[in-house]
Amino acid sequence: MLFGVDYYPEHWPEARWATDAAMMREIGLEMVRIAEFAWSRMEPSAGQYDWGWLDRAIATLTGAGLKVILGTPTAAPPAWLVHAHPDILPVDAEGRRRRHGGRRHVCANAPAFQEVAARIVTAMAERYGGHDALIGWQIDNEFGGGAARCYCAHCASAFRRWLRERYGDLRAVNDAWGGVFWSQEYSQWQQIEPPNLVLGQPNPSHVLDYYRFSSDAWVTFQRNQVQVLRRLSPRRWITHNFMGTLRSLDYYALAADLDFVSWDNYPTGNTERGSAALYGPGHIPPPHGYDVGDPAITSFYHALMVGLKEQPTWVMEQQPGYVNWGAYNPTPRPGVVRYWTLEDFAHGADAVVFFRWRACHYAQEQFHSGLLKHDAAPDQGYAEVISLADDRAVLERLQGARVRADVALLYSYEDDWAAEMQPHQADFSLRREVFAWFRAFQRAGIPVEIVQPSTDLARFRLVVAPTLWLVDDALASHLRAYVEQGGTLLIGPRSGFKTPTNLVWPEGPPGALTDLVGAQVTAFHSLPPGLSYDLGWADNEGATASVVVWAEALEPTTGVETVATWMSGLLAGQAAATLRIVGGGQVAYLGAWPTDALADQAVAWLVHVAGVWELIEAPIGVMVARRVADGQEYVGLINGTDDEQAVALYPAPLADAATGETWPPSLTLPPRSVRFGVRPTEAG
Ligand code: GAL
Ligand code: ZN
Repeated sequence: MLFGVDYYPEHWPEARWATDAAMMREIGLEMVRIAEFAWSRMEPSAGQYDWGWLDRAIATLTGAGLKVILGTPTAAPPAWLVHAHPDILPVDAEGRRRRHGGRRHVCANAPAFQEVAARIVTAMAERYGGHDALIGWQIDNEFGGGAARCYCAHCASAFRRWLRERYGDLRAVNDAWGGVFWSQEYSQWQQIEPPNLVLGQPNPSHVLDYYRFSSDAWVTFQRNQVQVLRRLSPRRWITHNFMGTLRSLDYYALAADLDFVSWDNYPTGNTERGSAALYGPGHIPPPHGYDVGDPAITSFYHALMVGLKEQPTWVMEQQPGYVNWGAYNPTPRPGVVRYWTLEDFAHGADAVVFFRWRACHYAQEQFHSGLLKHDAAPDQGYAEVISLADDRAVLERLQGARVRADVALLYSYEDDWAAEMQPHQADFSLRREVFAWFRAFQRAGIPVEIVQPSTDLARFRLVVAPTLWLVDDALASHLRAYVEQGGTLLIGPRSGFKTPTNLVWPEGPPGALTDLVGAQVTAFHSLPPGLSYDLGWADNEGATASVVVWAEALEPTTGVETVATWMSGLLAGQAAATLRIVGGGQVAYLGAWPTDALADQAVAWLVHVAGVWELIEAPIGVMVARRVADGQEYVGLINGTDDEQAVALYPAPLADAATGETWPPSLTLPPRSVRFGVRPTEAG
């Protein structure tokens, strides 16, 4: 199954359902996601269920030949529930209790909410869990959207319990947080509060644990639903719809309990939200960005989502036209919905579900497009979904194929939180840094995966850890093992500065990584805007780069090579990058913020050192995506620009996946288009 749509039968007269269902089938849609906000209709008052309408909606949809994905409705607690238990409403960081009337207005730690959530999920699963047409479940909707963290009294006591479990006693908490500073030592559990509303800056170790605790609360909340569904609805998959832009939950942990990751892909929104977050303040998206979205940003979010489980994803909500929630909400040009969809598959999606079927007449999303307009006339997305029929055969072959790259970037949500708390240079952001590397590899035409630091790295030839903020000995030995077995690892600035509880490693940076790296960071400089230091490579064709944001001086131990040196600024003459052979592999340390120029030079050097090469040379704005299955390698060439682009293919038997014809050495891609090629893998 390839295509589906998000549908809200409760928004439309029942007499319309059959027409909608028939039209869905007609344009090649095979499944419908329903019910994820329909709590007030399923349970109009406490414990009183009304399944009649949903039974009939499901019967109508399945009667037309559609399969059903059911969403659990816990993102939309109804008014009767909030009224009976006002303590389920979340308290924000400013200490304000938020109100009913939007969505996600809940505290994951409120016992009353946990109880009714379990009850509605159980009731739904009992009723529909074995339904023939039910293929799977989406739990809740976009955890963390709105507010991932609550600061209410339930959370305060749950936090104390969480700390007790993690640390055992208060002495350990005081040590882990450096409580002696500013008399923050605790002598009773009751004294510990959430870290909001403090005067001045809160303690970063306290905050980091609160972030962990808050993320864990949603993971547990989801797990409770997973357990109910596994028991009452066997042989159905379970997923959740993630967001590329979200940073406040540990998505690796949230993904672990699910069968696969699905996510919501809104390319114009990705660009609007991602521009400042990923490029830095003041960034203006490329001119074609207004509808395609910045192709680099959308590919980046795909890579993040695929990396959560290192498995194919689904796109559970695909932008069908304009959205309503941007500052600007452009209507895409003809062909762009189709382009977005093919891009999803190229980057690792197995199925795409469009949000939403028809534009709504009321409430918050009146200005959001659907495949149908408000008056039920087909909108742009409708025609483009029809056009996807031509691609079915190719897309079906991609099903289950894994995204596979020779290069990995390491990214951790916890590191992101910790870095955000103490950037020491306002432009220092882990996401920006990971994205800078991602784009540099993209410019070099080399696909990368983004994975968590603790994952098995053996299949990668090259691993870049832009910044490993929190490091312990276990992570250090995990990385050492990878290198010893022949891997090439580059570790970026500020790595190993902190212990897992966010204290400074007493022996100085790179802390637990010092032995592996074979060098000590003897100075770090935060470079304010306007200040840059030049870095010169010893080899690398004598390249130099001007470095902004962050610079470090390194002192290598004997046997460790200095591969780059500071040429100007206060660190002039000192080492900026080192390389050390360890076992069958090598580890490099680069003490500099990856500006584009520097990242390009580092990538050129690293791919040479690690022996990564690529048979495809693509111009900027053309992404090369790779998926592998059953002895076949699928290459997606994605032209995200407004111009025709030529891609150079070095001799290799790449055939067009649609026609079977061998591709010429220079392949032309029309503007905003995706083509799939295929070849047998070396192993296959
Ligand atoms: C998503 C959300 C949907 C809908 C959509 C509009 O974030 O899951 O329910 O609000 O945005 O683009
Ligand atoms: Zn709370």
